[in-house]
Amino acid sequence: MKNNYKNMIMISISTLILLISCNGISKVEEKTAKENTDLIKVDTTKIPNDKFGVSVRYGRELMLNTAYYIGPNGVNGKYLGNKMNCSNCHQEAGTKLYSLNLIASHNNYPQYRPREGRVLTLAERVNNCIMRPHSGKPIPLDSKEMVAFLSYFKWINTFAPKGQKFKGEKNLSVSFPKVAASSEKGGVLFVQHCQRCHGVNGEGYMRPDGITYLYPPLWGKYGYQPGSSMHRIIKQAQWLKSNMPQDKATWQKPILTDEEALDLAAFVNDDKIHSRPNPKSFDYPHIEEKAIDYGVGPFIDSFSESQHKFGPFQSIIDYWNKRGLKPIY
Ligand code: HEC
Ligand code: HEC
Repeated sequence: MKNNYKNMIMISISTLILLISCNGISKVEEKTAKENTDLIKVDTTKIPNDKFGVSVRYGRELMLNTAYYIGPNGVNGKYLGNKMNCSNCHQEAGTKLYSLNLIASHNNYPQYRPREGRVLTLAERVNNCIMRPHSGKPIPLDSKEMVAFLSYFKWINTFAPKGQKFKGEKNLSVSFPKVAASSEKGGVLFVQHCQRCHGVNGEGYMRPDGITYLYPPLWGKYGYQPGSSMHRIIKQAQWLKSNMPQDKATWQKPILTDEEALDLAAFVNDDKIHSRPNPKSFDYPHIEEKAIDYGVGPFIDSFSESQHKFGPFQSIIDYWNKRGLKPIY
């Protein structure tokens, strides 16, 4: 109620500005009209107590305890190739702000995906994450599990402000230093900030029951695949900034500087140092739509694979902008 009321006021204020100025809305006002500054909180006690609610609850369970239900030894199906959970990256079942938040997703699909070069449904997008970070096989679209994922996404979407972007929908951004991200410096930072949970060899820490991890692996044969977006250095750095080290960082008070986050992401994702399952490259049928931090050519520009992977990124971004192309990162 409170949110709706605020939104109404915001809409009437921007209408008023429009009426008064007549010659259009300035940049700042446009932002006020579009971005909702409330901190969205999903209240799970509001999940309806009906049959739809049963599916929503199961979807939430699947996000949190993915390996238990559909992991390699899953009680309801064996789909994943590793024992990670969706919420290892989409924290708090996709509701944590600035942590690959999924509250808006139900609204945003079907969506054109440069990666595949075609329009995907939300169900197909879920299966992408099952196949890549989880090295799994796709869940049937009509299965109870897929229906539950979609029910859950639909329900959390009711907390999204209508027609507005909200704070924490996207991860924090990082600014780019003039130098390439350094896996060497990242290695030093890893010992200092990460090793105590993720292990000396990034192997994570399995729970004593063997079902899933207390601390998930960052590389190795049970880590995410190179085809996962987490393997892209900018993408990962943006996420690390607000979320790791897990017990200290918040989006309001990151622990890592932007440069440190990039160096750490470089270390974690350096394939010369760390191995991963299924190291093949694929996708991006239209190279002018390739994410700039995707480290496998061909590219539309003449920057090297190494510069695309590790940076310096700003010169690539400038090159794309100058040619009226939209750099994705
Ligand atoms: C290793 C980290 C990781 C894990 C584990 C993971 N994801 Fe993802 N997921 C990502 C990243 C990174 C993106 C890309 C976000 C972007 O493009 O900005 C993503 C995107 C998505 C999207 C699209 C969001 C949108 O609005 O476009 C959905 C839906 C999704 N994941 C669902 C899942 C589900 C369900 C699981 C568990 C079966 C899962 N993910 C596991 C990292 C992960
Ligand atoms: C206090 C323990 C702790 C520390 C320290 C920590 N992490 Fe994590 N990390 C976690 C946990 C727990 C998760 C899973 C998040 C969840 O399930 O909510 C995670 C998830 C991740 C993920 C995504 C999932 C995966 O396995 O790929 C990455 C990447 C990551 N951490 C990197 C780092 C880096 C880099 C550092 C050092 C800056 C770090 N972490 C420090 C506990 C920790």
